[in-house]
Amino acid sequence: MKVYLNGSYIEHTEAKVSVGDRAFVFGDGIYEVVRIVNGRFFMEDEHMIRMDEGLAGLKIQMSQDHRDNISDISRKLVSMNGLEKGQAKVYIQITRGVAWPRTHTFPDPPVEPTVYLSAEPFTPHKDLHEKGVDAVTVSDVRWSRCNLKTVNLLPNTLAKQEARDRGVNSAVMIRDGVITESPNANIFAVKDGVLRTYPATNYILNGITRQAVLTIANEENIDVKLQPVGEHELFDMDELFFTGTTTDIQPVVEVNGRAIGSGNPGPVCKKIQHVYNAKLAMM
Ligand code: PDD
Repeated sequence: MKVYLNGSYIEHTEAKVSVGDRAFVFGDGIYEVVRIVNGRFFMEDEHMIRMDEGLAGLKIQMSQDHRDNISDISRKLVSMNGLEKGQAKVYIQITRGVAWPRTHTFPDPPVEPTVYLSAEPFTPHKDLHEKGVDAVTVSDVRWSRCNLKTVNLLPNTLAKQEARDRGVNSAVMIRDGVITESPNANIFAVKDGVLRTYPATNYILNGITRQAVLTIANEENIDVKLQPVGEHELFDMDELFFTGTTTDIQPVVEVNGRAIGSGNPGPVCKKIQHVYNAKLAMM
């Protein structure tokens, strides 16, 4: 696979980053994952807005030219890797760059950020979309700026691995007695036909798929309450589902060994899946 690193298009096996890179020593960087269907980029503007918010949130300075090129670089990678047909994903990572010696404060004067992009084929998890998945509740031990999509993903990877070690697909993270999100997706619940999800505060990532689902709910006249679901309410919910760029709309049918609703994907989730898949296909 060809990747892009700081101005060059090279084989991924040849792409090397310095040990002084701030992402390597401090996790000092942001990333985005964008979905591509038949060469078309799904909700690219929204991804770019969130990427800019991440850069601003971390105070990473990037030349306007390089920033403006991200979209062209992504397209070039899709084409170089022969991904214009079918499903693919583009990964974008921007770090504060290379600084030596290791010092917590930012390099002064600022250095050029490290800019890395890859484009890979993507296979949607159709079986999981149809059957649904199981999960366990875990404590959300992340920091309080989860709205920034940083590469500091250790709480997320530990939570996902804990779920796998406990024999289930994923985790439902709980902070202060309420459901926030999964390690790599947002969470929606349905109660009496009303959709509920955590509001877009600093305690969750405002997912692009989450935004698409809220638009679909509006178009389909599904009522929405931007109100977190309490841990104590979890098993009163009729439906639960995850949303994300690589998760799509994924029903959660069992948590901690107990069924959610009927224990099968519910009608609201199925409706949203249907409209979302049509939007992906129609782009
Ligand atoms: N993860 N919440 C978290 C913590 C996430 O990591 C993600 C996505 C989402 C969903 O966001 P979006 O709809 O914009 O993909 C929510 C990406 C895909 C990842 O880490 O690979």
